[in-house]
Amino acid sequence: MSEPVLIVYATRYGSTKEVAEKIGQIFIQSGIDVDVLACKKVDTLEQYQLIVIGAPYYIGSMLKEAKKFLIKNQNILSRKQVAFFALGPIGSTEKELTETQNQLDHELKQFPWFNPISTVMFGGKYEPDKLHFLDKFLTVPPASPLHNLAANDARNWDEIKAWAENLSSSLQTADNPSVH
Ligand SMILES: Cc1cc2nc3c(=O)[nH]c(=O)nc-3n(C[C@H](O)[C@H](O)[C@H](O)COP(=O)(O)O)c2cc1C
Repeated sequence: MSEPVLIVYATRYGSTKEVAEKIGQIFIQSGIDVDVLACKKVDTLEQYQLIVIGAPYYIGSMLKEAKKFLIKNQNILSRKQVAFFALGPIGSTEKELTETQNQLDHELKQFPWFNPISTVMFGGKYEPDKLHFLDKFLTVPPASPLHNLAANDARNWDEIKAWAENLSSSLQTADNPSVH
């Protein structure tokens, strides 16, 4: 029996959790044991063959609890196989995606010891009616990119599925060199 995979996520409104769960399902379908856990619920990382970390972007930065998770677990994450996904752009434009992608690249440079086998940025989900007070406040200034922005779900499930399938098949290939 191969070692399990951990999908660990940070979330404020649940969309990153849903992506983490989807990725978990893909691994399970490939016969790989999976734990899907919020950052705060993780006790140990030692038993996992792969740790997939997911974090949404807020005001140009990954959600703080994901950053804390990286810092707290530097030692073990630097010697484990890891993959990273971020959620952000809600408008689906190429410009928005590139901007957040650049922010992610820049932010990950703060962790030179962190060497994911794959890093990806997915579109996010935005529901203005569900925003907490402080986030709602950010949408008020007309100059805010969130001002009057309509609800949208820019998560591309085919893309998410393909990324997870790639990761899962890379593990199976590693387990059994005869499989290509
Ligand atoms: C107040 C606020 C600020 C945001 N800032 C950014 C940002 O800087 N860059 C980005 O790409 N997406 C940004 N987003 C979009 C979120 O990353 C997206 O909604 C994501 O799916 C939220 O994930 P969660 O539901 O797991 O919390 C922002 C969303 C909100 C509500």
